[in-house]
Amino acid sequence: MQNLEYLIPGAQADFVSCTTITDLENAKAKYLGKSGALTGAMKGLGKLSAEERPAAGAAINMVKQAIEEALKHRREALLNVEQDKQLASESLDVTLPARMHAQGGLHPVTMTLQRVEALFHSIGFSVATGPEIETDFYNFTALNIPENHPARAMHDTFYVDSGDGKHEQVLRTHTSPVQVHYMEDAIKNNTEFPLKIIASGRVYRVDSDATHSPMFHQVEGLWVDDHISFANLKGVVQDFLRRFFERDDLTVRFRPSFFPFTEPSAEMDMSWNDGWLEIGGCGMVHPEVLKHVGIDSEQYRGFAFGLGIERLTMLRYGVNDLRHFFNNDLRFLQQFTKWKN
Ligand code: FA5
Repeated sequence: MQNLEYLIPGAQADFVSCTTITDLENAKAKYLGKSGALTGAMKGLGKLSAEERPAAGAAINMVKQAIEEALKHRREALLNVEQDKQLASESLDVTLPARMHAQGGLHPVTMTLQRVEALFHSIGFSVATGPEIETDFYNFTALNIPENHPARAMHDTFYVDSGDGKHEQVLRTHTSPVQVHYMEDAIKNNTEFPLKIIASGRVYRVDSDATHSPMFHQVEGLWVDDHISFANLKGVVQDFLRRFFERDDLTVRFRPSFFPFTEPSAEMDMSWNDGWLEIGGCGMVHPEVLKHVGIDSEQYRGFAFGLGIERLTMLRYGVNDLRHFFNNDLRFLQQFTKWKN
């Protein structure tokens, strides 16, 4: 039988030239596979005589073991290379800076809303709410705003089209309708006086520039009792503003004004740069409004005020353009995360 030792160096060379495990398995087939050189020789053993067979078998086994050994070596070497490659691709650079968790924060307008509510709550005001889509009645009529009042004009108010050409609903133009809802409910439920509420939320007007936005926030205050005067109104509002801005020397100006739902009425301004910025309106609740909700205006009186939340926020944080609040630019908003209410 032919000496097969010559196969060993050939197999070693073939295996070494393989660069992947798949190549190696293909090369293995050439020697040890079904139709490989060694398998053929094994099959040939049957044709030999009983005397010749042991020596020939041992010789084939020796070659087979040598080839299997070469195969094992190459397989280990290739597996090592693959493992090294994988480790390199998954390497961890411990010198990289840690991934920080982004810190969230409240929107500055939300901070102001919470601060205003907390300050009024601390002097006995309850927090009330009302709908943002209002009927014309609550937004205007019940507040003594007559049909021909400029506030009703199509160019100031967002009217909701009910589909049949009627415009009986509006996006509320101020938080004052909450006064009416609250007083109506209070009368219905025999709530005891004083009625002392603070109501904040979104309001809408067709208005847009550096100090006006089509959607903005107001906070409404109402205090109705049997001995409330304009002096109480001035005291409460000024005290609130001083606490809000943490300044005892804060200057507030009350300018005589007109609102159909208060009498007398005033506009409140705060000193701002070299001038004044209007921050809200106020006055004594008009007897007509009390009458609308069934409160005896001979026995009870009240004051009400409405403040612009964005204006307060601009003044507190020194923001010069109200539109920054609604552009959602993180560079602007992130500056407020350090503030505590
Ligand atoms: C009112 O809305 C009255 N309801 C306030 C009131 C309540 C008076 C109770 C009397 C009694 P006025 O239209 O002035 O008033 O608005 C109040 C404040 O909202 C303004 O002083 C201003 O600070 C703010 N404001 C008004 N329009 C805008 C706007 N487009 N964008 C941002 N803030 C505004």
